[in-house]
Amino acid sequence: MTDKTTILFFDSGVGGFSVYREVLDLLPQHHYLYAFDNEIFPYSEKTEELVIQRTVSVCKKINETYPLDLIVIACNTASTVVLPALRKIFDIPIVGTVPAIKPAAQISQTKHIGLLATKGTVKRPYVDELIHQYASTCQVEKLGSTKLVEIAQDKIQGDSVDLIALCDELSKWKNIDHLDTVILGCTHFPLIKDEIQICLPQVKYFIDPGLAIAKRVAYLLENVKVRSKSETKNLIFCTKQFEIQNKFMQSLKNRWGFEKLIVLNLDE
Ligand code: DGL
Repeated sequence: MTDKTTILFFDSGVGGFSVYREVLDLLPQHHYLYAFDNEIFPYSEKTEELVIQRTVSVCKKINETYPLDLIVIACNTASTVVLPALRKIFDIPIVGTVPAIKPAAQISQTKHIGLLATKGTVKRPYVDELIHQYASTCQVEKLGSTKLVEIAQDKIQGDSVDLIALCDELSKWKNIDHLDTVILGCTHFPLIKDEIQICLPQVKYFIDPGLAIAKRVAYLLENVKVRSKSETKNLIFCTKQFEIQNKFMQSLKNRWGFEKLIVLNLDE
């Protein structure tokens, strides 16, 4: 046993890997747990109440066995609604992932930007507030998609990407020549950034918040007192047993560094 900071990442699926990979790169020395709520994936069109309830339950459940030092909600759809509830329950830093409107507005030369997120995220008042505050000088397009989330999830789980379906989903933006900046407002989307770029060749900047979140985590950890004498193995949790392709299982271990996949029982 060693003293290591235990950090939990949470998402509906594997989207949070796009944040986790940046944190792991910057801070490889910590104890990482990753939980995904595959029982009700995707979150895109789920009610706010359900997303809050599930996120809170999973985080609480894991904290019972693995006392947590910091939580990263690596999901925009959840972060835009659940952060106040989590901060009430947990006395540790809670880091959220919300659409990076401000950097997008700053970098855009045409001042015409796109928010690509889930159907839930594009509707949130929280996001309108961010746009009002930081992008009032820009024309902002919003596109909410569940399909893209599924495509990204399937890709990471070992399937090939259907580029026609992907471009079809983005067709609304295809002819907007001035759209030079797109905010990847769902953590699944950095995982299919290259494919999105093929469908939207006019876009110069894709805003992926992963690295900024990693820096935020590093900053917050400076003042965290490690509460757990944690195991050193990195673990991944899901909420429902599923048929897992061999290739995905291998990549969880070799690419993402998780020793074991554990199915959580939220009813216990
Ligand atoms: N990856 C999540 C996000 O950042 C949620 C995707 C989903 O389940 O719809 O919004």
